[in-house]
Amino acid sequence: MGGLKVYIQHVFKVLDMKMYAISFFGLGRVGLTMAACFASRDFRVIGFDVNEEKVKIINRGKAPFFEPELDVLVKDSVEKGLLRATTNPSEAILNADLTFITVGTPSAPDGSIDLRYVKSALALIGESLRHKENWHLVVLKSTVVPTTTERVVKPIIEEVSSKRCGYSFGLCVNPEFLREGSAVRDVFKPDRIIIGEFDKRSGDTLEDFYGKFYGEETPPTIRTTPVNAELIKYASNAFLAMKVSFINMIANLCQKLPGADVNVVAEAIGLDKRIGSLFLKAGAGGGGPCFGKDLAALKKFAESLGASTSLIDATIQVNEQQPLNLIKLAEKHLGNLKGKRIAILGLSFKPNTDDITDAPSIKLVRGLLDEGAEITVYDPKTMENFRGLFGNSIKYAFDATSCIKGADCAIIVTEWKEFKNIPPEIFLELMRTPLLIEGRRIYPPKEYSKHLKFEAIGYSP
Ligand code: UGA
Repeated sequence: MGGLKVYIQHVFKVLDMKMYAISFFGLGRVGLTMAACFASRDFRVIGFDVNEEKVKIINRGKAPFFEPELDVLVKDSVEKGLLRATTNPSEAILNADLTFITVGTPSAPDGSIDLRYVKSALALIGESLRHKENWHLVVLKSTVVPTTTERVVKPIIEEVSSKRCGYSFGLCVNPEFLREGSAVRDVFKPDRIIIGEFDKRSGDTLEDFYGKFYGEETPPTIRTTPVNAELIKYASNAFLAMKVSFINMIANLCQKLPGADVNVVAEAIGLDKRIGSLFLKAGAGGGGPCFGKDLAALKKFAESLGASTSLIDATIQVNEQQPLNLIKLAEKHLGNLKGKRIAILGLSFKPNTDDITDAPSIKLVRGLLDEGAEITVYDPKTMENFRGLFGNSIKYAFDATSCIKGADCAIIVTEWKEFKNIPPEIFLELMRTPLLIEGRRIYPPKEYSKHLKFEAIGYSP
């Protein structure tokens, strides 16, 4: 009898488990990763993108860019019929209960946010909602400066759809905190979920969806106003960037202090729980599609309100300068760099991604070219992207050892795992002048400096 009761309760629970159909507008790194993760837990997902080629690749079960673990998730979900990409926007609205907007928000030339992709996604969504009878939830994941959802997103959807927010459709701001290189893991195990809701039904629905997706592992969820949600995203990225610039400032001080090592300082201060150990890795500086863009947008936005931007300014300034410190270290040993052969190991803005957006390697190579150096580069994943930027002005090696062969100086710019295994003897044997400059602190300085001329960010022997 007890067993029957448990079974009946189970049947009721299953019947109650409304499985949401989800759609995404924008199948970039954030949109596709989330789409594939949701589909992998049996949600039906349709992704809209304007790029036909990208849509074809995804429908063939492939990811159009490199992100660890993503290819398998896309392949499985497409094969099971749970994930599909389309260039037809109304298909992605009419067949879904919930739509995430995940288009890019690049910088305008003056650093302010460029909303053109958000606006065109909104127009398409509004147009399709006009023909939809059921209530629909629109969730903005793209990073937008505070007040954008209230002042831009809501009015566009309302005007184009002729429907009212809070009645015929719902609206939430739900920022993402995915890191490239570990985006899949970050979707499955986020530290928190932020829901900026326009009305209770919208917030309840999104929280219910995440409850079904994460089950017992649902992370702490903060429900708040849209403007807070928008600001939380910028404040998070600005704080992380500030931590990186802070430790790079200390690293630059260490270099002037014989006996100092920033890694030891970072480890020790990180043990203070109020400071925390993450994002205290000194090096060639931070890059990527978010840090620079978000800092610039926050600065412009704060300035427009007459608010102080002093910490943002200092963070940007330290970060801009940081890759150029590697050039100073090369000059310390080689003097004038004109005609000197420099090998650059690592081009992506961090390991496990093929993304070179705003990468320190770009600033470094430009600086070295200005000095007249001859440059050879190597990266395990992103050679073609770099070639697109620098063409024939530099040389491209097919592996790390051919990159350093005959070089006067090798500079580590990205901490790819395969570089960690290069012993000092290889540099010694292959280079013309064995000078190794460490921009990511992957080698033990004492051991390597026994064999080579060795310099590292934040290290002073
Ligand atoms: C960043 C945030 O970490 C994510 O939470 C956020 O969702 C994302 O931006 C975004 O806005 O979409 P990501 O751009 O993938 O993620 O890069 P990070 O892992 O934050 O690294 C940024 C840069 O800082 C990299 O170049 C990295 O090498 C550098 N960094 C990071 C350091 O130099 N030292 C550190 O200790 C940490």
